[in-house]
Amino acid sequence: MTHRTERIGRWLRLTKTLRITVNGEPREVAQGSSVSSALLEAGTPIRASVTGSPRSAFCSMGACMECLVQVDGHKMRGCLTFCTEGMEVVTDV
Ligand code: FES
Repeated sequence: MTHRTERIGRWLRLTKTLRITVNGEPREVAQGSSVSSALLEAGTPIRASVTGSPRSAFCSMGACMECLVQVDGHKMRGCLTFCTEGMEVVTDV
């Protein structure tokens, strides 16, 4: 592990965590995480391609809609949406 990676890991451990629900399963994510980054960190694909391959955020700047998820009943771009306490996220919408 590099010095930089250790510093980032230490920072993440000190960061406040939030509890969200992803597809009905509880998750803890770092405060300040976007929904896309929280899903990526958890290894949860946002949806599957027509061949069944997992897909995730692509541009991470709101242009491609690859990260479309349902947040508390509303379709939103995961890369532009920050996680909040108690948020319910549904993937593959
Ligand atoms: S990853 Fe492209 S809009 Fe979110």
